[in-house]
Amino acid sequence: MPDTLARKPVDLPQAQAAGLGLSAGAAAPASEQWFARAKKVLAGGISSSARSTSTGPLPFPLYMARGAGSRVWDADGHEFIDYLLSYGSVVLGHAVPALTDAVSRQLALGTMFGTCNTVEVELAEQITRMVPGADLVRFSNSGSEAICGAIRAARGFTGRTRILKFEGHYHGWVDVLAISNRPALSDAGPLQHPSSQAHSRGIPAGVVHDVIIAPWNHREIVQAILNAHEQELAAIIIEPLVANNACIGPEEGFLEWIRGECDRRGILMIYDEIVTGFRLARGGAAEAFGVVPDLAVFSKALGGGLPVSAFSGRRAVMEPVAANTVKHGGTYNGNPLCAAAALATLRHLNQPGVLESMESHGCALMQAIRRAAHDCNIPCVVQGAGTMFQVVFNRDGRPLKHYRDLLSADSTRYNTFRHGLLRRGIHINSSGSACWFVSAAHGADDLAIAIAAINAAMAEVQSK
Ligand SMILES: Cc1ncc(COP(=O)(O)O)c(C=O)c1O
Repeated sequence: MPDTLARKPVDLPQAQAAGLGLSAGAAAPASEQWFARAKKVLAGGISSSARSTSTGPLPFPLYMARGAGSRVWDADGHEFIDYLLSYGSVVLGHAVPALTDAVSRQLALGTMFGTCNTVEVELAEQITRMVPGADLVRFSNSGSEAICGAIRAARGFTGRTRILKFEGHYHGWVDVLAISNRPALSDAGPLQHPSSQAHSRGIPAGVVHDVIIAPWNHREIVQAILNAHEQELAAIIIEPLVANNACIGPEEGFLEWIRGECDRRGILMIYDEIVTGFRLARGGAAEAFGVVPDLAVFSKALGGGLPVSAFSGRRAVMEPVAANTVKHGGTYNGNPLCAAAALATLRHLNQPGVLESMESHGCALMQAIRRAAHDCNIPCVVQGAGTMFQVVFNRDGRPLKHYRDLLSADSTRYNTFRHGLLRRGIHINSSGSACWFVSAAHGADDLAIAIAAINAAMAEVQSK
């Protein structure tokens, strides 16, 4: 592990050092009080709908106060090994010198000028070197924003409007694709013709109409849907490893098949690499799966924990953006502070051995969960890749094929497992449809603690 990721000593006051995890029935009075205050001024007490249930055993979320390397501490001083990592963003670990040094240097030079800057150029050069198919890049600030850019680029290039999206894939909270993210089975329609369901009140019907839904990994059904809509479709957008559906992968040949269908029909293929980018491989899913899209969208790991995103694509498809016939703007786009963080992050991830050590840490965790489940005779599937994976307690322990398979998973077992882990100091996503993430700062000491916690939490699942 490179030195620059060494964990800094954490100087929490003695009184606050509450040890690893929430002990059984433990109170977290500071988090409780902060939530009470938050509810008076933040809608629902939170800043994102995804944060409403971050703790589970407690009727309020944990307020994280600081992080160092692989660990985070809540406002009550409980320490956790962090496998949430801000949904994979904190890919180098928390407050690691490789990142903080770069950000501090840029802070002293100025954070924003609203002009072109040299750091954004260096960052775009780095991305084009790492990512197959990224000839030209544009920056924005959040994943959802960059998705809007990519969709507009696809519509501008093709002159078509409708987008094919897979049921259960998540492409951000904004109207453009917040359709059929997690539809109830009763609303989702037949598998052959999934209905387009707005994910939220407030999304206009016209937007819903522009999004055609298909089932992931079902070639024949997708083909029939493509036949029905061929002339209308600007793009097919894909989460190549479905981070928001418990890391369901593409079946053998599925991505290659979609690539072929897109080429044959003049439809663009877009990868949403907001989670997989710079994590699944240095060149993201395009490198990992060997199938290169026309456009791709990045965020999360790109910024190492600072808010930056990008969309990129092959030269011809990005040309209208370059020529300004497809407009794309944003005050904060390519700001030097976030660009400096991203450049430091990518340079670090690009060093030999860094992603490989994350991968092997994650594979060891995946194996430990499989072994614990086997020993306890509990059916479950652990799927994904080493750097991002999820455990699903289903009936037969067989890999999931698509979104609807996840609906029959045993959420009580998942919650028992997760709460058991949290009490022992392992912090993972509260949602069973999301995933665990590994950072470059996770080490052998974390692994040993995590494996012991996994064994104990799985025994609790068995005893319930
Ligand atoms: C695959 C994927 N796409 C898009 C987004 C939206 O990104 P953001 O939350 O930064 O807008 C997310 C966020 O979790 C995501 O996981």
